[in-house]
Amino acid sequence: MSVFGRNRLTTVVLLIPVFSFLFLGRAKGQTQWAEALIERKIDSLLALMTLEEKLGQLNQLAARGDWVAGEKGITEEQKQMVRRGEVGSFLNATGAKTLKEIQRIAVEESRLKIPLIFAYDVIHGFRTIFPIPLGEAATWNPELIEKASRVAAIEASAAGLHWTFAPMVDIARDPRWGRIAEGAGEDPYLGSTMSAARVRGFQGEGLGKVGTLLACAKHFAAYGGAEAGRDYNTVDISERTLRTIYLPPFKAAVDAGVGSFMSAFNEIAGMPSTASAFLFTKVLRDEWKFTGIVVSDWTAVMELTRHGVAATQGEAGVLALRAGVDIDMESKIYVTDLPHLVRQGKLSIDVVDRAVRRVLRMKYRLGLFDDPYRFNDPDREKAVTLTADHRALARTVGAQSLVLLKNENRILPLSKNLKTIAVLGPLATSKRDPIGSWGAVGRAEEVVTVLEGVRNKVASGTKILHAAGCSIDSLDRRGFEEARRLAEQSDVVLIVIGESHRMSGEASSRTHIGLPGVQEEFVREIAKTGKPMVVVLMNGRPLTMPWVYENVPAILVTWFAGTEAGNAIADVLFGDVTPGGKLPVTFPRSLGQVPIYYNHKNTGRPASDQDFFTSKYLDSPVTPQFPFGYGLSYTKFVYSDLKVGTEKIRSTDSLRVSVRVKNDGDGKGDEVVQLYIQDLVASVTRPVKELRRFRRITLNPGEIKTVEFTLGYDDLAFYNQEMKFVVEPGTFKVFVGGNSVDVLEKTFEVVER
Ligand code: NOJ
Repeated sequence: MSVFGRNRLTTVVLLIPVFSFLFLGRAKGQTQWAEALIERKIDSLLALMTLEEKLGQLNQLAARGDWVAGEKGITEEQKQMVRRGEVGSFLNATGAKTLKEIQRIAVEESRLKIPLIFAYDVIHGFRTIFPIPLGEAATWNPELIEKASRVAAIEASAAGLHWTFAPMVDIARDPRWGRIAEGAGEDPYLGSTMSAARVRGFQGEGLGKVGTLLACAKHFAAYGGAEAGRDYNTVDISERTLRTIYLPPFKAAVDAGVGSFMSAFNEIAGMPSTASAFLFTKVLRDEWKFTGIVVSDWTAVMELTRHGVAATQGEAGVLALRAGVDIDMESKIYVTDLPHLVRQGKLSIDVVDRAVRRVLRMKYRLGLFDDPYRFNDPDREKAVTLTADHRALARTVGAQSLVLLKNENRILPLSKNLKTIAVLGPLATSKRDPIGSWGAVGRAEEVVTVLEGVRNKVASGTKILHAAGCSIDSLDRRGFEEARRLAEQSDVVLIVIGESHRMSGEASSRTHIGLPGVQEEFVREIAKTGKPMVVVLMNGRPLTMPWVYENVPAILVTWFAGTEAGNAIADVLFGDVTPGGKLPVTFPRSLGQVPIYYNHKNTGRPASDQDFFTSKYLDSPVTPQFPFGYGLSYTKFVYSDLKVGTEKIRSTDSLRVSVRVKNDGDGKGDEVVQLYIQDLVASVTRPVKELRRFRRITLNPGEIKTVEFTLGYDDLAFYNQEMKFVVEPGTFKVFVGGNSVDVLEKTFEVVER
């Protein structure tokens, strides 16, 4: 290269940063300018609005119209309210045609022509249903879950929706609580990665872009901490537990750009969330710099009177709005009770304006002022709904979410050429249950059952026999006999049992978390045949069924696996996919152990067989049935060579940790490599283990991978006595393995700076 050429190249290289700086600077300037313009437009709108119209923007109603041709509309009375500007958003209306018409009324027949926002609970899919969120979390595959949420957003937005009330990011340590099914399980770190993945998936390349939905982190906060696992019940936890366990997935949602939050039904230590300025102003706005909108949960504003912190509906409204709850879902208190309270000077108009500004700003961000029908497209709705690609993704997510708990004598995978297979149990032919709770517009008739999945999979000569044997929860044993007869004629028996979809989800707590009805008895009956047996479990929570866990040789947890459930389950049963899911929640031995979670404290008297006066039970081990992070594969993974980059670090340094993982079996498989830490001595007690990193990897037989992780300050920090987030010098342990118990370990020191 000539000197001239080199000089020119050097000049170009040197100028790149200058140009990109100028370019970026200009882009940033343009954004700021656009944002300032929006604020000016909002100023003008606010100046035009009556008090009633302002409060109307803060009013969210549930659509009460009929379902017509698969679409749900609003009533005549609700249309009148839209014309009068008394509604800012609807939930539960759906269907491109219907929503277009409602929006038309808002932008053509109301005085100020402000567009509406349409919200829906798109929790784990819209028409194509993915596994319930607990199942999605069991994939330990955030990239995949991001894609699933993307698909949900594409389908729902084409149907005219703008806003989903998801992700639900409540940590749940109590399997009695039915809503454990809707979240990512017990761990704040796994929960945070799933939370961020879902937000990224729903919101795609940014609000206002076609195919995206405004996401909503809910329920702020600590809803899963309900006493006795009873839904909506009191929560009484310390600020440290709140910040360490329950808040991280919410913070992760904010960091991923989530545009909205929903308040929770519960109180925390005396303060109902929906009236908590600590949560919605101090933490969310001041500390986390959240700029989106906050909606109450369904009638949660009104419920402040029942909590007993407000004597009247008006007082409830004032408390909620002042705390930072911008939108009132379904209580109608903001529109009915607040106007006169503002006029009487009991609520400042500034508080109202602040919330209205946020709502209008969101409508601008969603692009609704440019094109109120922006997302709505009946043709696209048809083209993008339940496509073959979407179903294929649901099948992949389904298969990756399955957790193999037991596989004695390597019963699984099954051969596709067996002569006869009995597919028994009440859930084998269920079309509705695999959808789980929050089915959006998913249709049972589109679901692949386990029986169908097995039929699709086996060779043409294989005979499939089926009998339910019993129902999910009745005490009727009359079907046992026939099922037993079929089992006797078969080479292998699959028993599909568990909970119905109604047994988990909202208001679906249970005091008995074993198999309902006579299902366990049914399994025992079939076991008497001595046939090789596989239990395929459908469940929205960990189930306690010690006899089954001990006596059935193969057990596959399938949660509620969605539209493609049967195919996904058959993929795993017959070995086209090797199971690689891991439990996102501890499975207890008995309800008496609940709450039981892996990241517990050591106590002053950790359980010991040598010492009676230690923290344990007289009638049960303290260990769980299956620990957090657990799950088997058809192949075997061997861990070795755990290394830390350096044995001494300063708190501001980062630490490299690596481990060698070998596929020591004879098939290709996925492993979730999990990294935990423990701070041995600190100024406040720290858990015995905390998940800090994980990675789902695929290894061919004999293949070895060195997996590297980097830990930083935030991974070692905790809230000290003064509630400051600090790293203290001292010894830490790092553990790496395929679940939270079977791990390799190393120590390292954090030294003073
Ligand atoms: C109540 C539930 O708690 C919440 O999760 C849901 O989004 C709303 N209802 C709206 O359906």
